[in-house]
This record gives sequence, structure tokens and C-alpha cells, in this order.
Amino acid sequence: MSPGNEEQIEYWNGKAGQTWVRSMDRIDGMLAPITQALLERAAVKPGERVIDVGCGCGSTAIELLRRGALVFGLDVSEPMLALAKERATAAGLKGFAFKRADAAAQPLTPDHELVLSRFGVMFFSKPAEAFRNIRTGMTPDGRLVFVCWQAMAENAWMSTAGQAVMAFLSKPATAPDPRAPGPFAFADREYLRSILESAGFTGVEIEDFRTKLHVGDDLDQAMEFQKDIGPVARALAELEGETRDRALAAARAALAAHLGPKGIDLGAACWLVTARNPGR
Ligand SMILES: C[S@@+](CC[C@H](N)C(=O)[O-])C[C@H]1O[C@@H](n2cnc3c(N)ncnc32)[C@H](O)[C@@H]1O
Repeated sequence: MSPGNEEQIEYWNGKAGQTWVRSMDRIDGMLAPITQALLERAAVKPGERVIDVGCGCGSTAIELLRRGALVFGLDVSEPMLALAKERATAAGLKGFAFKRADAAAQPLTPDHELVLSRFGVMFFSKPAEAFRNIRTGMTPDGRLVFVCWQAMAENAWMSTAGQAVMAFLSKPATAPDPRAPGPFAFADREYLRSILESAGFTGVEIEDFRTKLHVGDDLDQAMEFQKDIGPVARALAELEGETRDRALAAARAALAAHLGPKGIDLGAACWLVTARNPGR
């Protein structure tokens, strides 16, 4: 494990990992439009060797395996990897290996034509070094294709309830670092480009991808989900008692304003990134 990523490793092996395991089907359902766009950009071919960085519970790895790829899934989270193995095995798929490892430090063989990630690359304490290590696993001209979040304010599916709850937190003495490891670490497009270029990638393209995400069939379902993952869950962990109850009521009211006949659909914005390892 590379020094610096310990906090995230602990986080993803703790409650967060358990929550993702429990909510995986819902998360996959909700992220479906983003996953589809990611896989289209990846255009994987049968027989290609792929590294899935931060593969989590194996959702994208399984999609790649179904398309005939050979997949090496890397993740730091033991519970999420256990589910990834279980799902790939249950689906009768072959050609996969999942490893508990820090993608920033894991030695890699330079024979992967594709590196793919769905929201698994924003958690490195030293991102340029991490991407440099990832690049060592790629063939000359290999493709890097991943998706990461734009700023929280661009993601109504997180910010609508998130801002309502965060209003109840006491203000930190110093403003948090917007580039610190976490879901929004790459919100700044030019910063993201500079990280990839300094890691040695070429042909960096960062597409502004926007869609609606279905956050719940009704208010109760949306609230349950938001309490589990994302900024609402993170902010709630710091609140208790009556303040927590008031924060929850505020989140519910904020979401209620968006309730339609089919439930709650809110906007999402991510960066769909493609780049190449330079050729020989
Ligand atoms: C937001 S989740 C996404 C999981 C999965 N890609 C998906 O879309 O369902 C982020 C994942 O990155 C993993 N992760 C965080 N830091 C990592 C690191 N340094 N090396 C490998 N995986 C890491 C976490 O354990 C977690 O599974």
C-alpha cells in the first residue's frame, strides 16, 4: 500500500464498503446511463486485457467480462472485492482476477490494452504518481477510459439533499481542500487534465457528460438511499439527536420539491475521460 492512502483504505473497508455491498443493485440501477456511456467509450474487444481500477463490487468488471475481455480488478476494499468475486463466479464468467491492492502502488505487467474505472480514481493522495503507476500496466498506445464526478453543485442528485443537511454542520475553521481525495477531487477539469498529462498520458479528452439519475421511486426510497451513500450520509455521520432529525427533515423537504409521477430524477454531471499511453 502506498503511504498516504491509508485513510481511504480504512474508509472503504469500513461502513462505506458494507453500504456499497448492501446497496450495489440500487447503485448499479441508478448509474446505468453513466455505465453505458463509459462502456461505449471503452469499446472493449474480445480478448483484450483490462485493468478495472477501484473495481468495487465488480459491476463494470462483469460487463467487460461479458464482452469477452480478460479483467484484472484492483480495489482496496475487502468486502467489495468479495462480492465482485461472488458475482463474477455466479454469472459463470471466466478470465477474471480480483486483487486487494492499492492501484497507486501495485506493480503491474505492461500488457493491458485498456484501463477502465467507474468512479474509482478520485481517492489517491498523490494522483499524478498513482496514474503514473497505472500507466506502467498499459501496452504502448493502450487506452485509459474513466468517469469521475464534476463539482457537487453540478450534481443535483447529491447536492439537493446534501446541501440541506450540510447547513446543519458547524463551519470548519479552514475551508476544505477541494482536491483532497474524495468523490469531487477531479471536479476541476484543467486540474484533472494536468494530472493525467504529468503522469505521461497523451490525447487527453474530457467530455462533459450530463444525465438524469433516478434517486428513488418515492420520497422514502430516495431518503433511505441518500442516508446510505454520498454527501448526505457523510454529513449525517457528524450529527446527532435533534439536530440530526432537523437535518433529515430539511433533506426530505428539499427532495419532495422534485417528486414527480415516476419518483425523483435529478441531474448528474461527470467527466468522461479518455487518454492514451504514448506509443512506442
Ligand atoms: C465510488 S467507489 C466505485 C466502485 C466501483 N468502481 C463502482 O462503480 O461500483 C470507489 C472505489 O474505489 C476504491 N478505491 C479507493 N482508493 C483506491 C486505491 N488507492 N486503489 C484501488 N481502489 C481504490 C474503493 O475501495 C471503492 O471500491
